[in-house]
Amino acid sequence: MVTRRRLLGAGIATAATGLTGVSLIPVFTAKDAKRAGGASTQNTPPPIVPFQTPMPLIPVAQPVSTVGGVDRYESNVISATKQILPGLSTQLLTYDGRFPGATIKARENRPVVIVQRNGLNVPVARHLHGASVAPESDGGPMDTIAPNAERVYTYPNRQPHASLWYHDHAHHLESENVYRGLQGSYLISDSIEDALPLPKGPYDVVIHLRDARFDAAGQLVYAMGDRTRNTLLTNGVPYPYFEVAARKYRFRLANSSNMRFFTLRLSGGANMIQIGSDGGLLPAPHTTQSLFITSGERADIVIDFSSYPIGAQVFLESVASNGSVEQVMRFDVTRSAPDPSSIPSVLRALPPLPTATAHRTIVMRMDEDGRPSPQAYMDDKVYDHQRVDAHVLFGASEIWTVTNANTRAPHNFHMHLVQFRVIERNGAAPGPAELGLKDTVAVMPGETVKLQATFDTYAGEFVYHCHMLDHSAMGMMATMKIT
Ligand code: C2O
Ligand code: CU
Repeated sequence: MVTRRRLLGAGIATAATGLTGVSLIPVFTAKDAKRAGGASTQNTPPPIVPFQTPMPLIPVAQPVSTVGGVDRYESNVISATKQILPGLSTQLLTYDGRFPGATIKARENRPVVIVQRNGLNVPVARHLHGASVAPESDGGPMDTIAPNAERVYTYPNRQPHASLWYHDHAHHLESENVYRGLQGSYLISDSIEDALPLPKGPYDVVIHLRDARFDAAGQLVYAMGDRTRNTLLTNGVPYPYFEVAARKYRFRLANSSNMRFFTLRLSGGANMIQIGSDGGLLPAPHTTQSLFITSGERADIVIDFSSYPIGAQVFLESVASNGSVEQVMRFDVTRSAPDPSSIPSVLRALPPLPTATAHRTIVMRMDEDGRPSPQAYMDDKVYDHQRVDAHVLFGASEIWTVTNANTRAPHNFHMHLVQFRVIERNGAAPGPAELGLKDTVAVMPGETVKLQATFDTYAGEFVYHCHMLDHSAMGMMATMKIT
């Protein structure tokens, strides 16, 4: 039996022999092939030869008008087909035919209005993940747009710079809708970020990373809780290459997978400098060889290609929990370029945390005994939109102690409306990557994370949930009501 992974491995070997003089492509181990043996080997697409396609740059959305200090956009959710795998066309759910959706560039305190039309035959809800918005513009699970209807979302952008993203959130459909393509980036800039000499313009690049499973006809296969989504897509393309100049680049990574947690590294153990997380820049840059980014999280990193000779190939690699390594994409250093950018040792100052006014505990747990239709729980309850699970006083600053009570299943914890601060992980101070503003935080099996959030922007009902979207669709979501 030939596994999909072995086929992919064979494809890589072929590609490697086609290269002259450079042999930087590690060969997949037999262990990798065996690991993938658990996946269905039926109905899989032809092998993918990696690094044949350039990484697409995600286009920036253009407003239809900018009058009165408001950027107004119109968008339509439509199904569209696109060639993702060679020679096959894949049916997708898209914002305006794009996969991923266009990047919206917003400015602090300058409102964005989006007129969102639903051209599908299922309800959709457009959620701006990480944003401080009024409940009627939050695009929460029950607040959907019916087929052929439209609605207006208003984003005041009264929050500092941040690399946010938008995605579908229609209850019980969000997991599949996002998987099939309803996702994109939303970048808020401000004068604090502008003033820094970080890489800018063409050297500031959005990269959406995710996994997917395709059938032999090239169609996306969706199954709840699927652990065999073994094709990795970078900006919608499997295993692309990206030609870079020998200088610093800023990459805004978004893990837009439903469930996959990525541990990323560069080939040769090269350094990455993490400068930002969900809610904008970290207080200080953090040099690392390994970046952990769970589904829904974002990480801003700087990679300095100036130490490589022209012609070098640098791989972005994904390390699985069993230690096996898969190449996600390849950076090809093809030219030199001037580099006026630098990374200051202080990136931003975050205000001191206010004194907490309330404490709360949250337990995340799901059925992990292999039963046929597992459910997932927030405080032992599955999501019920008619129930309020947490009553929060407007203006409160609360410490939430969030525990993953599972022994095997990882989770992460996402709150709508707020950017929070991680104040403790398993009783210890958080690591350098978690010192910024966060809206989604990993909570691995048995772990407890303490975070602090301040609810002084909007009143109303908002959800919090696991951002492994298959888990939230299984019930791991709850409602907070701020009054
Ligand atoms: Cu990105 Cu309710 O989530
Ligand atoms: Cu979960």
